Amino acid sequence: MSSREKQVAVITVDGPSGSGKGTICQLLARELGWHLLDSGALYRVTALAARHHGVELDDVEALEVLAAHLDVRFRATDGGDTQIILEGEEVTHAIRNERVGEDASVVAALGPVREALLNRQRDFAREPGLVADGRDMGTVVFPQASLKIYLDASAEERAQRRYKQLISKEPGASLDDILNDIKARDARDMNRAVAPLKPAPDAVILDSTLMSINEVLQAVLDEARHRGLR
Ligand code: DC
Repeated sequence: MSSREKQVAVITVDGPSGSGKGTICQLLARELGWHLLDSGALYRVTALAARHHGVELDDVEALEVLAAHLDVRFRATDGGDTQIILEGEEVTHAIRNERVGEDASVVAALGPVREALLNRQRDFAREPGLVADGRDMGTVVFPQASLKIYLDASAEERAQRRYKQLISKEPGASLDDILNDIKARDARDMNRAVAPLKPAPDAVILDSTLMSINEVLQAVLDEARHRGLR
């Protein structure tokens, strides 16, 4: 672990797909004026790069090399959003589709790929602080984090949220299919041998099933305040 990682304040937010982590982390980073690491985007970009380069998802050695040499940049826009650039091409939206998500989940189960992305993630820890969004932020990447949140919600509630997002773009979307996909992805993320999704022993567990985004944000900010992070 680098000395920088020990010094810089880090808040980790881990949890399953659809728990609201992404939204909460963006709001939190904005509120605190801290940097943001969307670690899932790195796995998605690795999966997309594999497709671009014709690398099969069972070719672990080639995927490890790809992850280690990934030419990816996170570029802040004037509007405060982040653009993701892979090998000079903007892929901010392209990495969000379901197929890339599925591929990312396969790639993320490979230990050598996770290892290759570790230092790249730790490099995001810079002053004045970092909000890190993922599955193993508190358990593996930033074990010394000042505050660790594990954000959960029932699979049914997460499927509903995804359905509401999708239905305007895909009128044929099925709630049952979405629920099944969510359960399959949970099983893969929680049961993999390397860095499985689970709360760190010292994590604060928040169940957002019946909470609004603002209630979750306030709960996290309260925890940050208790630890003198604000
Ligand atoms: O959060 P997301 O849907 O963008 O993540 C994409 C995939 O990457 C998902 O299957 C979980 C995996 N992932 C991971 O294994 N570890 C992380 N720190 C972040 C994401």
